[in-house]
Amino acid sequence: MALVWLHHFNRMTSHLSPLSLLTTLFLLTVLIQGGSAQCPWEDEPETELQSTCICSYNTANELSIQCNDLTSYPLFKATLNKYVSKVPLDLLYINNSAIRNINENTFNGVLIKNLQLSHCRINSITPNAFRHLDFTLKHLNLQENDIEQIPVEAFRHLKNLTLIDLSKNKIGKIPDDAFSTLNNLVTLKLSDNNLTLYKNSFRGLELSLKNLNLKNTKLKSVPECIKGLKSLTFLDLAQNLLTQLPGNNMGIFKNLNSLTALNLERNILQELNENAFLGVEDTLSSLSLLNNLLTEFPTKAISTLKELRVSESLFPHTLLPFHHFQVISVYFTLL
Ligand SMILES: *[C@@H]1O[C@H](CO)[C@@H](O)[C@H](O)[C@H]1NC(C)=O
Ligand SMILES: *[C@@H]1O[C@H](CO)[C@@H](O)[C@H](O)[C@H]1NC(C)=O
Ligand SMILES: *[C@@H]1O[C@H](CO)[C@@H](O)[C@H](O)[C@H]1NC(C)=O
Repeated sequence: MALVWLHHFNRMTSHLSPLSLLTTLFLLTVLIQGGSAQCPWEDEPETELQSTCICSYNTANELSIQCNDLTSYPLFKATLNKYVSKVPLDLLYINNSAIRNINENTFNGVLIKNLQLSHCRINSITPNAFRHLDFTLKHLNLQENDIEQIPVEAFRHLKNLTLIDLSKNKIGKIPDDAFSTLNNLVTLKLSDNNLTLYKNSFRGLELSLKNLNLKNTKLKSVPECIKGLKSLTFLDLAQNLLTQLPGNNMGIFKNLNSLTALNLERNILQELNENAFLGVEDTLSSLSLLNNLLTEFPTKAISTLKELRVSESLFPHTLLPFHHFQVISVYFTLL
């Protein structure tokens, strides 16, 4: 069972990261084409960019630029301004460069659909940082930086944004309405931050948010702010400090009518009462409880889940066969 569930969650995480998928696809394309396309600045005398950046074009002839270990962002910016000022970019990816602050001049007005600035020591983002990208930006990945607060103002007008990745930053509080104007946001990744969440931290995302990653965010209980997220399909709560799932009439999952996958690995759950999954009985089909402190198989809680499937190779085309609990629990991690 452990393997089965793990397998499901591998698939889940791949759904959860469209941008890295995109990056992979991009790299594949480059490999298939047998090398990258020439960057627009190919005729410049030797600059650092020639060795640190690769360029390519997608089928719509839109440019992607990927740079690793860029030592001079000002040089990059000046070059971008000279050669790419009015052409929309499909992807701008910069990893490992000291960008530190994002302000209204950082991109010199270049239009960008997918933006990843990871490992760039970013800790300040001014309110106007993305204003010229209001209608173009779709994916924003700022993982592995030093961001301490959600840049609420800078995000506010990004109407077409479908993905935000702020994992591995230093974010603490997520204030009420932090994302409330982002009505197209589908994926939100906040893993590896020490979070404090409030009742309305995710207000406004009820109809759009499908993937929420709160892995390793020091949560002591399932946060109340997930309650209204009717569209949520994948919820990752692994590596937290959850001791129980409040399963009384208040059922924390009660309104999550679309939830199909729930990751509760590496928490400190000791038992699950029979109402633990109240509300998601008809939808939940992947569940992982590996590495908790459960001392017995939570038969009652699990038996409410009508869609939970076990490995097709173990039990072909059947729903969870309750009379096979003995078999299943062999694969289940117990204390
Ligand atoms: C970015 O670069 C750093 C340092 O080279 C590396 O450790 C990290 O894995 C890279 N991250 C991504 C997302 O490529
Ligand atoms: C942004 O969204 C609007 C509708 O919300 C749509 O009309 C427009 O085409 C989108 N822009 C891009 C670049 O996808
Ligand atoms: C998060 O909390 C852990 C201890 O609970 C601490 O070691 C870590 O430094 C904290 N991270 C940040 C970014 O504050």
